[in-house]
Amino acid sequence: MIIAIDGPAAAGKGTLAQNLAKHFHYAFLDTGRLYRAVGYAVLQAGKDPSDESAATREAKSFDPKSINKILSNPALRDEATGNAASKVAVIPAVRSALLDLQRNFAKEPFFEDGTPAKGAVLDGRDIGTVVCPDADVKFFVTASAEVRADRRFKELQEANKPADYDTILKDIKERDERDSNRATAPLKPAEDAYVLDTSHLNAVQVFQAALDHIAVNHE
Ligand code: DC
Repeated sequence: MIIAIDGPAAAGKGTLAQNLAKHFHYAFLDTGRLYRAVGYAVLQAGKDPSDESAATREAKSFDPKSINKILSNPALRDEATGNAASKVAVIPAVRSALLDLQRNFAKEPFFEDGTPAKGAVLDGRDIGTVVCPDADVKFFVTASAEVRADRRFKELQEANKPADYDTILKDIKERDERDSNRATAPLKPAEDAYVLDTSHLNAVQVFQAALDHIAVNHE
């Protein structure tokens, strides 16, 4: 069983994906973290995230066995890393280097400790359209840019990190623009995706709506 969850930054995909993975006892892969790890590695090497050869080199150097360790780096959550991720994600060679990794996970999912799982939840931008077009369930989780910026702003405030709403909103809009208009695997709902607008829903309501959809359509 594969559940694909796509949508723009800060729409609530990650929370929904983790809730569903926990509920069904499936393994979870936040594919944005793969792109973030590439963006981070490029920045650490002192290169520009739009530099094709530097980004491709980093994407190809991932060892699937140490993926959990690479993805657990807390620096991957930073806004600067998210922006770098969105830039490396435009590069087709980076996307193809990460594609096998994601498809292998979907085919043979495993938990963080390496034990196999009987299902997987993947979240990202192109899971339902490109990575797992045959996924059993597809969600497209979205919300207005203003609501998403407000959520990010509050998250940062709660973590006692510097936060400026206008800058966050500007970054979110730029990221949406880049993610939606790139030539390879742009952000868009799969034709058979169930669209969940979370602008006026909290995390519990989103989870419930997703469970209802699965119960009615897939069980
Ligand atoms: O979901 P996120 O904010 O962690 O993703 C960071 C960036 O990675 C996002 O702006 C676009 C890119 N990305 C992608 O192109 N395809 C995916 N499946 C996941 C993320």
